[in-house]
Amino acid sequence: MQDLTPQRFELEPIEISPVDVIRDLQLTRLKWSLRHAYDNVAHYRRAFDAKGVKPEDLQSLSDLAKFPFTKKTDLRDNYPFGMFAVPREQVARVHASSGTTGKPTVVGYTERDIETWAGLVARSMRAAGARKGMMLHNAYGYGLFTGGLGIHHGAERMGVTVVPISGGMTERQVQLINDFKPDIITVTPSYMLAILDEFKRQGLDPRKTSLKVGIFGAEPWTNRMREEIEQAFDMHAVDIYGLSEVMGPGVANECVETKDGLHIWEDHFYPEVIDPETGDVLPDGEKGELVFTSLTKEAMPIIRYRTRDLTRLLPGTARTMRRMEKVTGRSDDMMIVRGVNVFPTQIEEQILKVPGLAGHYQIVLTRDDRLDKMEVLVEANPDIDSALRTTAAASLAHHIKAIIGSTAKITVLDPGGVERSQGKARRVIDNRPKE
Ligand code: DLL
Repeated sequence: MQDLTPQRFELEPIEISPVDVIRDLQLTRLKWSLRHAYDNVAHYRRAFDAKGVKPEDLQSLSDLAKFPFTKKTDLRDNYPFGMFAVPREQVARVHASSGTTGKPTVVGYTERDIETWAGLVARSMRAAGARKGMMLHNAYGYGLFTGGLGIHHGAERMGVTVVPISGGMTERQVQLINDFKPDIITVTPSYMLAILDEFKRQGLDPRKTSLKVGIFGAEPWTNRMREEIEQAFDMHAVDIYGLSEVMGPGVANECVETKDGLHIWEDHFYPEVIDPETGDVLPDGEKGELVFTSLTKEAMPIIRYRTRDLTRLLPGTARTMRRMEKVTGRSDDMMIVRGVNVFPTQIEEQILKVPGLAGHYQIVLTRDDRLDKMEVLVEANPDIDSALRTTAAASLAHHIKAIIGSTAKITVLDPGGVERSQGKARRVIDNRPKE
């Protein structure tokens, strides 16, 4: 794999500023953001008043703990444009996340917000190893989802040639990778595996592509999956994080030279980690729910947004800004199976340890006689015979029991047997009766 570490002079000065310079900037910007939200969004005015806090009560960064949280339901309750802090005419673009139930959550950007976003995506891509003059195959979905267009503008901003292929039509993805010879691919990790299968199906060697780096996100994935993809394509696999409510892709990104968690772009977002039960702010290093406050967003400032993503904050390494550990899962994805808490990523970790099994999997939960049952559907690699499949199933069941503590039925399917997604994979099918 090529060394893609950026030179220091290529970075923006703020990325490597001393921590206290970053904290000073955050405090100034946070005061502005709270005031902007309070003065211009009825929801925040009501929520601050109900808690008896005013923007001027924030004198230091830790005072943020006095302010109310914002949840996804607040965005839904103010559907479609009630969370906007500027007149609709000043909103240059909207995006929305579909969500599984009910109305979508709508987010908006002024022209300046789009500029800021493009700048942060460019910063993220550079951290991942992208450079001006490279070519990008952008397979994140275009449309209301923030992935496609978010990456697109950042890439254009940094002078990268963009192939806006979007998700789907896997055969054509492979054809264009072969013919156009892009340096970078941006896509969900689960869809990258589908692209990998297609390479193999066509008898092509994925290690021979022009790809130097893949920037994967929009769903949880493990370090084992990273190894799998890096090996298969002989390229770097780097993590990108973001969410629509806070901006979209590019809230945080890993650096290609360290791959040790994602640096949060703290000049634009203030992170906190809280205890999801009590709402108390936890010290850096402790694991809990990630909460974000925007520092510069004009169209839709967001104050203490509860992401439901579980992680911990760590000190900076390749950049001075703090890192978040790779997200192991959302609190919504946590399965409680016979009293044991299980995340899909824990199952993924075990699957990828077992020779002969591929990274396509789904977990099906049912209830029989008031007992939860977990079945793991996982695909076999094309070249393994039925004896090896039986051994692989037994070995996976053993690892899940020994390491996670749950009993699982393992069903090894033929290649292609697990439902494919062209974006975020659906990992859990919960068929248990609703309480
Ligand atoms: O998924 C934005 C995005 C697009 C990020 C492309 C990265 C690349 P939403 O659809 O609003 O936005 O979903 C946000 O996806 O709260 C996490 O649960 C999950 N997520 C996003 N990135 C990661 C990641 C986009 N790198 C939700 N690791 C978030 C784990 C991620 N989970």
